Amino acid sequence: MKVKTIIFDLDGVIVHTDKFHYLAWEKICEEEGLLFDESINHQLRGVSRRESLDLILKYNQKELKDIKKDELLEKKNNLYKESLNHLTKNDLSNDILDTLLELKKRGYLIAIGSSSKNTKFILEKLEIINLFDAISDGTNISRSKPDPEVFLYISNILNQSNETCLVVEDANAGIEAAKRVKMIAVGIGDSVSEEIADYKIKNISNIIQLLELINNN
Ligand code: G6P
Ligand code: MG
Repeated sequence: MKVKTIIFDLDGVIVHTDKFHYLAWEKICEEEGLLFDESINHQLRGVSRRESLDLILKYNQKELKDIKKDELLEKKNNLYKESLNHLTKNDLSNDILDTLLELKKRGYLIAIGSSSKNTKFILEKLEIINLFDAISDGTNISRSKPDPEVFLYISNILNQSNETCLVVEDANAGIEAAKRVKMIAVGIGDSVSEEIADYKIKNISNIIQLLELINNN
């Protein structure tokens, strides 16, 4: 079956906002005396804000009352949104913009599948929101990755079978979500394990060659 739809994760794939998530959590943890490092951060990729806090607390073997958790979640999001304010279309690399345009030129459907509730705000800042045929994000799902809900929303609204969708992800949780529903899972970046992704690429533009390879077979 030929691939027709390319679903991109947002943070850490389209734009480097994964760094801003990291810095915001680092600040929260510093203030609260909680341990936080790269290895726990990798586990937060693709995971909702609330579940991320739960993972950090579990890692620290600490429990907090819901009211305190809500306060920390709001604080984290405010810190994160402060960094997003400085985002402009210059934060989008040429490699990514050219690849998105080339995919459209070749007739592929392109979509975003992210657990973030800030997705549309970021896409607007980057001035690419209108490029996508569909957007699925933290505002339309009730379970975050590795649950496949975020990707199924896309195949449903675009009326495509899952086998014809290819997902590009920087998170193991996203790779697992794609594979659970038989979408092709492509990993990018250091945090995706070679063993679980169907393919691993170095740059987003490698998608073009990969699609030629898959679709001509
Ligand atoms: C993405 C990021 C996660 C983040 C989640 C929720 O999946 O990879 O690190 O926790 O979105 O983002 P939000 O902007 O809603 O806090
Ligand atoms: Mg990501």
